[in-house]
Amino acid sequence: MCGIAGYIGQRNAVEVAVDQLRRLEYRGYDSAGVAVQVGSEIEIVKKAGTIRFLTEELASNPKDGRCAIGHSRWATHGGPTDANAHPHFDQDQHIALIHNGIIENYAELKDEMIARGHTFRSQTDSEVAAYVIGDEYRHGGTLLDAVRRAVRRFRGAYALVVVSDSEPETIVAARNASPLIIGFGEGENLLASDIPALLPYTRSVMALEEGHLAEITRDTVKIIDGDGHHVPLAPQHIDWDIAAAERGGYDHFMLKEIHEQPEVIRACLAGRIDGKGGVRLEGVFSDNVWNEIDRVNIIACGTAYHAGLMGKHLFEKLLRLPTDVYYSSEFRYGDPVLSPRSLAIFVSQSGETADTLAALRLCKSRRIRTLGIVNVVGSSIARECDRTIATQAGPEISVASTKAYTAQVIVLSLLALHIAQVQETPGLRVADWLSELQLLPGHAAKVLEVEESVKALAEQLKDMPLCFFLGRGADAYVGYEGALKLKEIAYIPTQESPAGEMKHGPLALIQAGVVSLFGATDPATTDKVVSNIKEVQARSGTVLAVTSDTTGAIKKAADLVIEFAPTKFDFLNALLSVIPMQLLAYYVAKLNGCSIDQPRNLAKSVTVE
Ligand code: G6P
Repeated sequence: MCGIAGYIGQRNAVEVAVDQLRRLEYRGYDSAGVAVQVGSEIEIVKKAGTIRFLTEELASNPKDGRCAIGHSRWATHGGPTDANAHPHFDQDQHIALIHNGIIENYAELKDEMIARGHTFRSQTDSEVAAYVIGDEYRHGGTLLDAVRRAVRRFRGAYALVVVSDSEPETIVAARNASPLIIGFGEGENLLASDIPALLPYTRSVMALEEGHLAEITRDTVKIIDGDGHHVPLAPQHIDWDIAAAERGGYDHFMLKEIHEQPEVIRACLAGRIDGKGGVRLEGVFSDNVWNEIDRVNIIACGTAYHAGLMGKHLFEKLLRLPTDVYYSSEFRYGDPVLSPRSLAIFVSQSGETADTLAALRLCKSRRIRTLGIVNVVGSSIARECDRTIATQAGPEISVASTKAYTAQVIVLSLLALHIAQVQETPGLRVADWLSELQLLPGHAAKVLEVEESVKALAEQLKDMPLCFFLGRGADAYVGYEGALKLKEIAYIPTQESPAGEMKHGPLALIQAGVVSLFGATDPATTDKVVSNIKEVQARSGTVLAVTSDTTGAIKKAADLVIEFAPTKFDFLNALLSVIPMQLLAYYVAKLNGCSIDQPRNLAKSVTVE
């Protein structure tokens, strides 16, 4: 999710690379750097913080060359420091590398390198990749050959860009699952992780395909597949304006981020499932701590709170571990009763939410163990928690959170499975869960195919005066998140509650025109949900069901339906049902002319009480 830049041509390559990085700033980052070929040497300048820190450094120590690569980093492995910033040298300082993605088997590769006497300057997986390429380069051949051999040793997602001091004016790149785009110029060529960084220089671009590698000079671009066969060049002309390009061609960041969810699930799982059917969560507490914990408190705001509810569902169902979920603002002023053996989990996309941070500090003052589940590595909550797990969802720009929610629930699921593994929870098939989780990106991509039918439903429902979100168990929790999306971006009043609670009051609000969206993914409660559907219809309400039910019962009962194919686990089906709800909120808001990425009265990061 980081930014990649690369340039070869007649211009000052460092200036171009820095300009490209600036054009990727909207993605968010925590450090930046460039490597430039100067004579027969490669020089690297890199700094933690904004690009301003890098440009100040370059102002006092200017670099000039015709070939440079640049990177703006979104920390995953290792905090945002100068040392962890890219580019990274190989062990001999002949090669400089920048990398997006995660090398899942970096720990094994690093151990191998350390055993051979190499020392590392950073905590990143990327530096390990540089060393492996360096290792292959020593065995001879071109840089392209070395990268092709090296990537066979990598597991995971990557876009890699490399320069060597012995191959002037040549950039080599490789791609697997992380985007990399080549820009074709006149007497100059470019590379970037995203189209906006190329548009000021060229509109002729070509995305590198999965498993392909490129060798780029001023006048030539050569692309090969993993077996070394040539791939024909097929540049495309881009006529988007820069703002549209930043949104990847989508009308809004929210829609882009909804569509990123399959990829985000993959990134969130990357490196966290070992080859033996086990979870590998780095940096969490040691096993004896997990055996000691008697209660979990999950503390968060907004969407993160809703992810916390899903965590509660799983922790109690799978682990029988008592779990409470608190709004941060209530927790901090509520004089909470905290068992000394409890664990407090803080869920936050930004890692800066004032109430969540204050609740964290309260727990620390009471000497309670704290664990963060945070998207922004290096944020206050990530730094202050005893331990932190990164959600790895990449920067989220839309105020209404979508992909961060999915990633938070995935991390909570991995955590539950990790605890189950440590505690050897009887009857829980961790390996089955993990293999289903690995299939989840594909399932999420299938669910996204409902988009056209959701669009048509939005047209039909856009003037609804009120929308209920109902369900049971995990479906009720997902309904809370679906309701939040609809109210925050489409300004439609919502009433969300467990379906069984309806008749204790909310049912009074049902009348013609009112819509009730039922999440119905749990076969154990299908009959009960059908009864609740009938209660709504008997009062002239319209029922829209979002369901993975395969018996046909829900479809038969509901007036309108969005269906998707189930996974093996009900909990994951409930999670997937959030996607149609996000899309519905999006299209209703769009049809009603609402400001989608920046809804009225709301902020992305609430750093005040
Ligand atoms: C704001 C955002 C929400 C977010 C909440 C918590 O209200 O608009 O999208 O869920 O803050 O933020 P956090 O960064 O702690 O997850």
